[in-house]
Amino acid sequence: MIILGIETSCDETSASVVRDGVTVLSCVIASSRKDFERTGGVIPEDAARRQLEVMLPVLERALADAGVSHEDLDAIAVTAMPGLLGSLLVGTTAARTLAHVWELPLIPVHHTLGHLSSVWLHTNAAGDALPPAFPALTLSVSGGHSDLWYRTSHCSGVCIGSTRDDAAGEAFDKGAVMLGLPYPGGPALSKLAEGHDERSYDFPLPLQREDTLDFSFSGLKTSLKYLLRDLGAAADDPAVRGSIAASYQHAICRHLCVSLERAIDRYAGVKEVHIVGGVSANQRLRSMTEHLCTSKSVRLRVPQTLRFCTDNGAMIAAAGEFLFRERPEAIPRGFTTRATGDLADILSQ
Ligand code: KG4
Ligand code: ZN
Repeated sequence: MIILGIETSCDETSASVVRDGVTVLSCVIASSRKDFERTGGVIPEDAARRQLEVMLPVLERALADAGVSHEDLDAIAVTAMPGLLGSLLVGTTAARTLAHVWELPLIPVHHTLGHLSSVWLHTNAAGDALPPAFPALTLSVSGGHSDLWYRTSHCSGVCIGSTRDDAAGEAFDKGAVMLGLPYPGGPALSKLAEGHDERSYDFPLPLQREDTLDFSFSGLKTSLKYLLRDLGAAADDPAVRGSIAASYQHAICRHLCVSLERAIDRYAGVKEVHIVGGVSANQRLRSMTEHLCTSKSVRLRVPQTLRFCTDNGAMIAAAGEFLFRERPEAIPRGFTTRATGDLADILSQ
């Protein structure tokens, strides 16, 4: 199948054409991130207004880059939940209109199922040399959620761990704000950490006294706040700031890896571990999970390129394909665009 995927759940406007859920023929992403560097976060109305301006040009570019016309498409997939409502409505309104005019099936997709589908995406025509192997453990870490999934197929699985407060991406973003870095903080904080000693400052390991697969990041954030307060003017020194960033980044990644290791031990027979979502772009998280998976003899998969880690239309097209293949009966004839929604209600167990 050739599917057009549309993603507008936050500050990105993306459209992508994907063949068979894996081969990315085009992926266009317009971001209003620069507009929000000054404000330190997304202003929902401004994001939606900007998306309204770029939606059609992005769609036109996606079809042109892929070298296809609407007649070549088999379906349209669109993020229907969760996210900023105004932003989601720009994408779903465009998708509904095009599906009606072009007489194509329309597949509403949960944003997180998009991230869960992003590890198979490839830009080379041959696709992934290694076919999917289930059961898989998927650590899905972004600005909006941090979940651990045990999956037996693309669209079936259970959530076995979740954050009790902030998401991992939020921990990066809020830490970055405290260190005076621009939005979005994750990439800026990891850049600041480069080349610095991550053992310089001790951060507590969250939930260490509990036998749980859950996450909690608010304590790390508070520790960082007190560390900066105690250091006072000393924290203005670039080398000190770099060491703080490295230690804080390591604390976040270590917490994620502890739960992941527990899950690998608990779920015998897991064939693959996947790390997806914006935070999967983090190189330190990648190297730590690589080390863990090698020691446990499980294959690690991360999105092929950094643009497939953060929000993009290709992952939505892929999720649409998998839903179409595995759960055609679950694709509703009509749907409501919603700011909230639980993926566990959509996946079969
Ligand atoms: O998946 P995503 O693009 O959007 C959501 O669905 O939330 O994730 C965005 C999050 C932000 O919190 C951003 O700071 C974080 O991913 N992020 C990173 C890196 N790149 C993006 N965090 C740590 N290191 C990175 N290199
Ligand atoms: Zn996302």
